[in-house]
Amino acid sequence: MTRPLRKAVLPVAGLGTRFLPATKAMAKEMLPVVDKPLIQYAVEEARAAGIEEFCMITGRGKTALVEHFDIAFELEATLRERGRLQAVEELRRTTSLPPGAIAAVRQQEPLGLGHAIWCARAFIGEDPFAILLPDDLVLSETPCMAQLAAAYRETGGNVVAVSEVPREQTNRYGILDITADDGRLVEVSGLVEKPDPLLAPSTLAIIGRYVLLPEVLTHLARFERGAGGEVQLTDAMTRLIGQHPFHGLRFEGRRFDCGDKAGFLEAQIAFALRRPDLADTVRAFLRRYVEPAI
Ligand code: UTP
Repeated sequence: MTRPLRKAVLPVAGLGTRFLPATKAMAKEMLPVVDKPLIQYAVEEARAAGIEEFCMITGRGKTALVEHFDIAFELEATLRERGRLQAVEELRRTTSLPPGAIAAVRQQEPLGLGHAIWCARAFIGEDPFAILLPDDLVLSETPCMAQLAAAYRETGGNVVAVSEVPREQTNRYGILDITADDGRLVEVSGLVEKPDPLLAPSTLAIIGRYVLLPEVLTHLARFERGAGGEVQLTDAMTRLIGQHPFHGLRFEGRRFDCGDKAGFLEAQIAFALRRPDLADTVRAFLRRYVEPAI
């Protein structure tokens, strides 16, 4: 029987060098898209998929990420004094998790995504778990992790979210080698981290959403260095293929790489245009910038 998916790991210990200087003293996952930090989008998406327990992999300068999910007593008191009870309720509803639902472990050195996941080994234990990279933001009708969780229940094994990328960009992603493809779910026969476009086995790239079986930890514990000298999650996942079901899911929705300046700016516009309170204003000022002056 498929074990229920209740846990999520949120790796947030990276240095965010593509977003300097913004990320010099601040975590990239605290950057807001419209009015919500990236980390909150990730937690809300996971909760919508039935996830109940969270573990952040943090590092130096990342404490604000954990504090974001605390109760802000002073702020709430001030808002109450000002009669802004709805704002208090909204804060509680969106950022307070049940007591004990969120934990943080430290990755003292950013040795790679695989190493970050291994740091959560005690939290993961013997359970299947989700991974959400908060800098990948997905705009979709059904939250991306809920789509992945459904595919996990269907296949009983590892599932990663995948998107087609231009061939010249394969060297930025983990790329799938596939055996079967029904247009939605693909059966994975191999994975390569950041392959040269000429050598990439496909143009299906893994984006920052995964559901993995705990067996991946055994392979991560070898600390083998892969592409870029980092402990790569992709390499450990490769070792699961053939041992357990392994699928890629072409999810419904659009993904924005918010760790990248252009991707982040595009996300601001796409998310703002979805907001009833902002859409008209944003559309009007966008026109002013893009329409040729008369
Ligand atoms: P990225 O590849 O985006 O790296 O990591 P980064 O350091 O965050 O950003 P750049 O490339 O320097 O701009 C993907 C995810 O893995 C986490 C990051 O926090 C991000 O969510 N990560 C990466 C870790 O937690 N630890 C690591 O050692 C590396």
